[in-house]
Amino acid sequence: MAERVAILLAAGVSSRMNTHLPKVLHEVTGRPMLAYVLDACRSVGVEKIYVVVGFGADQVKERFAEESSDIVWVQQPKQMGTAHAVMCCQEHLAGFAGETLVLCGDGPLIRAKTLQTLIEKHEAEHSAATLATAVLEDPTGYGRIIRDAYGNMQGIIEDSDCTPAQRAVREVNPSYYLFNNQVLFGALERVKPDNVKGEYYLTDALAVIIASGCKVIAVTAVRPEEAVGVNSRAQLSVASKIMQHRIQQELMEHGVTIVDPENTWIDARAKIGQDTVIEPFVYIHGEVKIGRDCRIGPFAFLRHGTAIGDDVVLGVFTELKNASLADGVRARHHSYLGDAVIGRNVNVGAGSITANFDGQSVNQTKVGDDCYIGSGAVLIAPLVLPAGANVGAGTVVSQQNVSSINGKSGS
Ligand code: UD1
Ligand code: CA
Repeated sequence: MAERVAILLAAGVSSRMNTHLPKVLHEVTGRPMLAYVLDACRSVGVEKIYVVVGFGADQVKERFAEESSDIVWVQQPKQMGTAHAVMCCQEHLAGFAGETLVLCGDGPLIRAKTLQTLIEKHEAEHSAATLATAVLEDPTGYGRIIRDAYGNMQGIIEDSDCTPAQRAVREVNPSYYLFNNQVLFGALERVKPDNVKGEYYLTDALAVIIASGCKVIAVTAVRPEEAVGVNSRAQLSVASKIMQHRIQQELMEHGVTIVDPENTWIDARAKIGQDTVIEPFVYIHGEVKIGRDCRIGPFAFLRHGTAIGDDVVLGVFTELKNASLADGVRARHHSYLGDAVIGRNVNVGAGSITANFDGQSVNQTKVGDDCYIGSGAVLIAPLVLPAGANVGAGTVVSQQNVSSINGKSGS
């Protein structure tokens, strides 16, 4: 097997997004777009990932600082096109004799399986360059794959450079490429900015490679929904919907019931156990863990850092943030539990909340096992409630008065 590296293009200004944030940091179901592309590369085994950054480079590097041991950051000082961006890796890769995967940071929907197909085809056909293509109902905006009468690929023409006949072609380039590295860098030197935008197009490198007599193949291996590239906020929302569908499908395959997928939003980082039921209008955001046999919602909001045990019931308008709930907890109506550690079988009455923020700092509330918290209680953090405590309806509990409420006397 050939040695393989990846180049990810992530330097663009993304004017169509109308944003200050680098495009690849915009989130799809809770994770920056670039994270998905990195995952896809890693899943097929690459030695190193060269990420080309430019606009907002520092922000991108900082965001991935903790997971960058296999990343080499490459600066593209001025955004002169996708071929130019790849060319910026020359000083690192000029002598590399293996295969180079080239992907875009704004294509988060790429699947490992597609990359696997791309690699297998490339190796089986001994081709110099292989790309995966998709056939779309509406190909507007994408580079079109131009083939001859025998179906051999001739080149890629960008939407803005297409003739009307070329524009009618529905086979498009999602920008999933695998190259023989030496062929790639040889071809890049011959790419010229002869196009409407005056940029150096990576897509033109393929025509250069074909003209030099090397084998280039285009495999139609990309599902339409996987081809979506994010150039605008509208496409960001389309990509998010598709990703949400994937996340939910996977959870359902793992035994989670999602009553109304259309009206449920689950973060890509969430983990949910078997036989848990997610009722409509549940929003799960961030790293959230939910155990088995739970019933969540309707209308529950579970935020970052929340971990829920088994057999927990959370009902309408329950909001959790950075909260850990042991097995058997019930919080059926209108509760806010923030920065809380709730013991086993605790009942949280309707409208009871933790007051976790004192205006300056966020404080923790610990509720021992088997506590009973009546309706409308306010638990003022920092607070530790002993196991078995009984908090009456409407009580405002602070650590000072906690000694008067315990398992025996109640309050
Ligand atoms: C590109 C392809 C097009 C394809 C589409 C798929 C080219 C010329 N066109 O078009 O055929 O259908 O992707 O989504 O390659 N970038 C840089 N530096 C630059 C320019 C771009 O790093 O100088 C990065 C961008 O940040 C982006 C990626 O390259 O992540 C693609 O650039 P973009 O401008 O979005 O290209 P498209 O017009 O979408
Ligand atoms: Ca794009």
